[in-house]
Amino acid sequence: MKIKSENTKPQKKKTALLCSFVFEKSSESLGLGKINSKINDAVKDGIKEIKGKVGELAIIQTYRMIPAKRILIAGLGPKNKVTLDVLRIVAGKIAQKAQSLGLSEFSIIIPQGFPIDVSDVVTSIVEGAQLSMYSFDKYKKEKSEKIPDLSLLFADPQKIREVISKTQIVSQGTEYARNIANLPPNECAPSQLASFAKSLASKNKLKCKVFSKNELKQKKFGGIIAVGQGSKNEPKLIVLEHNRGKRSDKPIVIVGKAVTFDTGGISIKPSEKMDEMKFDKCGGCTVLGIMKAVSELKLPINIVGIIPSVENMPGGESYRPGDIIRLYSGKTAEILNTDAEGRLILADALSYGIKKYSPKIIIDFATLTGACIVALGNNVAGLVSYDKKLAEKLKASSEKTSEEVWQLPINDDYMDMIKSNVADMRNIGKGRAAGTITAAAFLANAVDDTPWAHIDIAGTAWTQDATKKKPYNPKGATGFGVRLILDYLSSN
Ligand code: BES
Ligand code: MN
Ligand code: ZN
Repeated sequence: MKIKSENTKPQKKKTALLCSFVFEKSSESLGLGKINSKINDAVKDGIKEIKGKVGELAIIQTYRMIPAKRILIAGLGPKNKVTLDVLRIVAGKIAQKAQSLGLSEFSIIIPQGFPIDVSDVVTSIVEGAQLSMYSFDKYKKEKSEKIPDLSLLFADPQKIREVISKTQIVSQGTEYARNIANLPPNECAPSQLASFAKSLASKNKLKCKVFSKNELKQKKFGGIIAVGQGSKNEPKLIVLEHNRGKRSDKPIVIVGKAVTFDTGGISIKPSEKMDEMKFDKCGGCTVLGIMKAVSELKLPINIVGIIPSVENMPGGESYRPGDIIRLYSGKTAEILNTDAEGRLILADALSYGIKKYSPKIIIDFATLTGACIVALGNNVAGLVSYDKKLAEKLKASSEKTSEEVWQLPINDDYMDMIKSNVADMRNIGKGRAAGTITAAAFLANAVDDTPWAHIDIAGTAWTQDATKKKPYNPKGATGFGVRLILDYLSSN
């Protein structure tokens, strides 16, 4: 989406749709100035038609009395309750309206008059507009409607130019993650995911290494090998490096689960909704989106993305319930359910990341447990961490980006729940209690005292239908985590 800023006065702006905001129960639209009197009180009439609730829209024709062809008034809800997410949502509704009207461009007057920093206001409007224009139509003959250009009207356009371009890069990272995550499993096996990583690396000057099945065997990635052995699509471990920090700076490592299709393996899943398990690669796609944005922003840091990728299939060569495998860490795991595969490949990737890079921080994203959806639903991800500082920082970025997380506890009691009689660990807890945390406890065994955070995105990685509430998350993969981590990286 093309987005620019300019200081044209609203009453002088020639545009197909001039958009302004109104608080609930207010009769004043923000930034329209004298326009109301120029068009015979039509603005006042328009405001009367809506209550100003979040996302309500009123359109007014101007009959050539001013250069703008139409005015759109968008409700922001009560003045004291306007948040960044309200702005994101409303900007999304506006952009979708402009698109459905078939416009080639529209303009938004940057609202002022509430206690939110203008660059945060602009960030939210840009994210809301751009991300709500996303659609996945790669496999459709009939493509979605054209995306209109957007002008942001603001007295000091230079001041917000950089905010716009940075936000667009982050949003493109999110869109890139969505594009790969939405691919069907027949067109995105581990080897294809690895080629996407390689072409991203060559375009964006990242270092990239892909471990083949043979190398993984040789280097004793027992978790990745076990889960991957049931599929003819061989497993890969993808590593991307962005080195723009000081040589002596320890990197941040971000790990993402990329099961390109999760049938459950021998512990096979019910067929209903099994198609959705193409989204079991979303953690890995989030890592790709993060690496894309970080490299395009040229952030002066060292960061490594690690993506263990497998297809979890049943077959004559599959791993089985009862197997005991040895992970990369050297610890053994008793397999009691082959559908608890994510933790096995993640454990290998986490141990490798720590051994190879001695990172200052390690964070993983994974569609790890159905239990997380039971606990938190589809709008909030699970956060598990032993590190208070890291968790607090992630929560702060979560508040800002509205990629919501909620911290769950972890302690020795949960670690005990995955003790095995015959191996160092079981790959599932006994019974269904605390499923998200027992999965995290398994991962904790792969991490030494490196500050680590685990984010379970089982509920938030994709949406079943275009949630009317959040137009910026249309149907399909959301790219959850890209905006969260980019905010974390830029504020810490
Ligand atoms: N990928 C699934 C988790 C999942 C399920 C994510 C539904 C999103 C929607 C994971 O590999 C899995 O199957 N987990 C099992 C663990 C169980 C066997 C302990 C689960 O949650 O049922
Ligand atoms: Mn599974
Ligand atoms: Zn899975």
